[in-house]
Amino acid sequence: MPRGLGIRAKNACVCFGDVVALRHASLTILPGEFISIVGDSGGGKTTLLRAIGGLRALSSGSIEFHSASGANWIPGPRDIGFCFQEGRLLPWRSVLANVALPLELEGVASGERLDAARAMLERMRMGGVERRMPSQLSGGMRMRVAMARALVTRPRVLLLDEPFGSLDEVTRLALEDELLSLVRESGATAILVTHAIGEAVVLSDRVAVLRGRPGSLQPAIPISLPSRDDEGRLSVEFASLCAIVQHELRGSQESSV
Ligand SMILES: Nc1ncnc2c1ncn2[C@@H]1O[C@H](COP(=O)(O)OP(=O)(O)OP(=O)(O)O)[C@@H](O)[C@H]1O
Ligand SMILES: [Mg+2]
Repeated sequence: MPRGLGIRAKNACVCFGDVVALRHASLTILPGEFISIVGDSGGGKTTLLRAIGGLRALSSGSIEFHSASGANWIPGPRDIGFCFQEGRLLPWRSVLANVALPLELEGVASGERLDAARAMLERMRMGGVERRMPSQLSGGMRMRVAMARALVTRPRVLLLDEPFGSLDEVTRLALEDELLSLVRESGATAILVTHAIGEAVVLSDRVAVLRGRPGSLQPAIPISLPSRDDEGRLSVEFASLCAIVQHELRGSQESSV
């Protein structure tokens, strides 16, 4: 059974004063599923992710979690891992101290949290840069550190908001593969917000389009590929699924003009 939590969002709405940021979003995610969300800028993708992570209160509707056995689950801080655009590392902390931060906030003893952070950095092939400051890293290295920080608590739900948006193509492809193997290893449920359709298709079990502004969440498109690697990216199925997602997005652009 996957460690990841199932998630049920029902008519989730978030308003900021008069601004409707998220409109009646309903989505069911299975434990251990990898789902991507694509859509127009300003459609509410980040708001949905933050609402799932408990960083934004809903104005109406509900978001509930359950374990693989179906039992209701109220996630604690260690259950949710966040990875934001460009990593958002704390510039005054070393790489090691950045990765250990979520455990520090949970009151985990120093030795234990540094050991866990070191092990996670090793896993991300970043063992040699523990003492460096974020400003001394390349963009790809910063993202690896940010992913290590998001995973250090062994979260049951991993939330990724355009993590690779600012990276060059080669680094992005390498990190996509790395992310997929980490998520599979951990059994976590993963939700990825991205503007890159190919990235969504190659990584996900399903891709959901948030159409319009504020977005209306379309039924998620199931993704079936012969493999989720470079070969998969060259397959006929990949091209056809990208076209299907693109078609949904085009529809969203037409409806919002
Ligand atoms: N803290 C806030 N206060 C007021 N309005 C907000 C706030 N956060 C988001 N919004 C508004 O809510 C809407 C949805 O924003 P959100 O950031 O969720 O969109 P998005 O789909 O993530 O866009 P992008 O692709 O550009 O990141 C936008 O109209 C935005 O201006
Ligand atoms: Mg956003």
